[in-house]
Amino acid sequence: MIRFPEGFLFGSASSATQTEGASLKDGKKQNIWDLWYELEPYKFRDQIGPDETSGFYDNYKEDIKLLKQTGHNSYRTSISWSRLFPDGFGEINQKAVEFYTDVFERIKAEGIELFVNLYHFDMPASLQEIGGWDNKQVVEYYVSYAKKAFELFGHLVDRWFTFNEPIVHVECGYLLQYHYPMEVNPKKAVQVAFNTQLASAKAIKVFKEMEINAKIGIILNLTPAYPRSNHPEDVKAAEYAELFAKKSFLDPSVLGKYPKELVEVIKSENLMPDYTDEELKIIEENTVEFLGVNYYQPLRVRQMPYRLLDDAIFMPTNYYLPYEMPGRRLNPYRGWEIYPDAVYDIGIDIRDNYNNIEWLISENGMGVEDEERFRVDGQIQDDYRIEFFKDHLKFLHKAIEEGSNCIGYQVWTFIDCWSWLNAYKNRYGLVELNLETKKRTIKKSGEWFKKLSENNGFEL
Ligand code: BG6
Repeated sequence: MIRFPEGFLFGSASSATQTEGASLKDGKKQNIWDLWYELEPYKFRDQIGPDETSGFYDNYKEDIKLLKQTGHNSYRTSISWSRLFPDGFGEINQKAVEFYTDVFERIKAEGIELFVNLYHFDMPASLQEIGGWDNKQVVEYYVSYAKKAFELFGHLVDRWFTFNEPIVHVECGYLLQYHYPMEVNPKKAVQVAFNTQLASAKAIKVFKEMEINAKIGIILNLTPAYPRSNHPEDVKAAEYAELFAKKSFLDPSVLGKYPKELVEVIKSENLMPDYTDEELKIIEENTVEFLGVNYYQPLRVRQMPYRLLDDAIFMPTNYYLPYEMPGRRLNPYRGWEIYPDAVYDIGIDIRDNYNNIEWLISENGMGVEDEERFRVDGQIQDDYRIEFFKDHLKFLHKAIEEGSNCIGYQVWTFIDCWSWLNAYKNRYGLVELNLETKKRTIKKSGEWFKKLSENNGFEL
């Protein structure tokens, strides 16, 4: 039997845009997902957009009851910025205040620890029009939004997050064209990354000044970069990959400083952002109180074998090549390698290099296509998901045994939800969503998760 420390948090994570639906209802205005879907619906799988989610906005009372039935003692969701402030700033939407207050009160009434994230890839469209994270005025609007959220819901929320996976809106929005505004603009990408870090630190500053009885952190998608071999060139490639993918947000968030090697690369590429010493000081003095770690797949890399053109456009992958390890265990539906060992490596890395800060796995999960084929007597028998959880929990437990300060494990996700670009192709939920009827049915993994949480562990 594997047992976790007393009070260990078990739960799941979700986000506003992926669950609420009602994207233009009761005063909410467009965020970049609503806008992008209006402009280019063909870029979304099966042309399903953010209005067609599981419908938490209308179903939350029933959904919250399911949290208990699936063993949640903690739950993370996010506030939709453009629901609370339809224009991103200025007038507040009273309907949104009522909605989030009722949601949060009901979750608390169930005795569930409530985690609330302020930003999950969902910039209000009106603020994107003025440049989004590239514009420092937007940083100020974000801080005002955060302050209002702390004022309104500070008595209900146990743990706040400033951002979910900030590297994603940097890379996907400004280098790789997976997210709106789909630019390829390294200079902006660096500015967006810096401004996001500044926004996080400024929100933490306000939070601390308000002396709220809760904790504040950030969610980062972390993994050590694994080199193909011990050859010094492969190892060097892995160091570069970690600089971009891991340390770019982890170091300033936890240690208050950017790694000097990263600054050197950015300088040598002529990409330094616009910043002031005062802003660096704000970042240095306002680090996180705990950390959420999303983990799905490892980062494997090899030496960059080609010489680049002198004027090659900057991409992190100018410094390393992603590497597909032969024989890797794969989730074929998402194309992501399954490597549970990394959870241990992450825990030890945080213990040894990041002051052993309090942390939790804030997302981990397996998206599977056509789960319908696993239905027996009306229930999805998702044994593969249970195995996936167990494998990761074993390595998490090992890291905790060796002193890593991990306080919980939250899976992605609660009820099958809408995915940014994959819509409903891959299902992640502990609870099945019937797309036509919207009926919710607990999967085998949901029942297993309840036992896991009740027993604070599981049989090997
Ligand atoms: C995480 C995000 O990185 O991955 C979630 O925080 C996302 O929002 C999840 O849904 C799974 O990824 P995908 O692309 O399969 O939905």
